[in-house]
Amino acid sequence: MAAHRTARDPLTTGAGPAAASSRRAVLRWGAALAAAACAPKGTGGADGAGDDDSGGGDSGAAPTPTRAPEPPRWEPPGPADDVAFPWGVQTGDALPDAVIVRVRALQMPLRVEVVRAEGDGWVADQQREELWPPDGAESIRLELSGLRPDTAYCLAAQDGMGRWSRSTRLRTALADGALRVLTLGATSCLGGNEPWRSLSVAAGEDLDAFLLLGDTVYADGSRTIEDYRLFWRAAMRVEGMRGLTGSTSVVATWDDHEVDNNWSRSSLEAGQFANARAAFAEALPQREGPGGTGIWRQLRWGDTAELFVLDCRGEREDGLYVSDQQLAWLEDALAASTARFKLILNSVPITDLTAMFGAAAADDRWQGYPTQRERILRFIDEHPISGVLWITGDVHFPAICSVSPPGAPGAGQTEVFTGPGGSFLNLAADLFVGDPQYPYVGYAWNWCRLRLDPGTGVVDVTFVDDDGGVLHSASLQL
Ligand SMILES: [Fe+2]
Repeated sequence: MAAHRTARDPLTTGAGPAAASSRRAVLRWGAALAAAACAPKGTGGADGAGDDDSGGGDSGAAPTPTRAPEPPRWEPPGPADDVAFPWGVQTGDALPDAVIVRVRALQMPLRVEVVRAEGDGWVADQQREELWPPDGAESIRLELSGLRPDTAYCLAAQDGMGRWSRSTRLRTALADGALRVLTLGATSCLGGNEPWRSLSVAAGEDLDAFLLLGDTVYADGSRTIEDYRLFWRAAMRVEGMRGLTGSTSVVATWDDHEVDNNWSRSSLEAGQFANARAAFAEALPQREGPGGTGIWRQLRWGDTAELFVLDCRGEREDGLYVSDQQLAWLEDALAASTARFKLILNSVPITDLTAMFGAAAADDRWQGYPTQRERILRFIDEHPISGVLWITGDVHFPAICSVSPPGAPGAGQTEVFTGPGGSFLNLAADLFVGDPQYPYVGYAWNWCRLRLDPGTGVVDVTFVDDDGGVLHSASLQL
């Protein structure tokens, strides 16, 4: 079941059939009952996989266009060799006409073959030959350009012995001005629970893109680039990660553990930041942002959605949570965006968690930096910026929250907490007894499906567990 947010009471949730404590069940069903009481009508379930249904719009309205069907996955001419290519091929930061590719293999150089979906099959698109990593790097970075918007592509790498990687599929972003239903996935915190079965479930859905919200590795204690690479080599070959990154492009940010636990720039040794940053970029394909650490950046999917990727760790200096440059960029970019949905990828919650945790560890999240937190929340509140959704990780439980309690800046904004995909589950969340600010709090490894319907303004949020079961679903009217 799912319900629908109204303009005055925008957050309602529906409960899924998760195995849960009775206390949790009461919270869930209580939220659902509250939702039913205030919602004008349902929007249909958010439990279905993929985006090939027409979605739930207002009766009588034309359904929002959805993605055209794709042919079955292209496979290279020879069998995939997981020994020669233990890490597969990753793509990231798709544009309407380009995507970044990262590939590492036991033997270089490589060639890459790219095919494009056309009709019921695949046609040759381009090939790249004699690819070597730059001196000192261990993966090849290339940008495929000249691609067609909103089109499925597959690619595979081949080494000099004729051995092939697995096929990697991706979808290019929508063209400027284009609009259709988008289905994205998201998770965070992959510090255990291999082989990350929830990611294998997500891989089966051929999503438009997948958001990695930080703590993809727990590389604490690393110093040299080789130290960091060891963690990325291990993570990228885990079956869930390999399957996921073979199924769609990623949009990645980092949190603390890609560098060190609760680090700041002043706590690092000389060279440590550069080593961690380089290893992160080698593993997960990403574009260079316009300032700071190069991590904060924006990516547009037509008129449906714009993604604003934050760096909530790399600029913590002088009592600031993020640099003034990053905060000003976010304000300006949100105000200028004409996309129906504005998704802010936030590695640590901006939600005021006082009712759940008090002030504990507040200095680890936005809450401990109230000047900057209130500045961005007020900016969104006080400007005509619609369709904002915060998406976060870090705290090791899935949740849907109002960003602030009633009456405070941001009270009308919503944050979705996704993950952990593999890290320890947060017992504090499981013991938490409900507060209306947090209508859903869960306790399971998960990934989150976000189905964005720009025609209705509804985001269907579905938390999916390691077995593909629905933990919880909700529909947010944004
Ligand atoms: Fe984590």
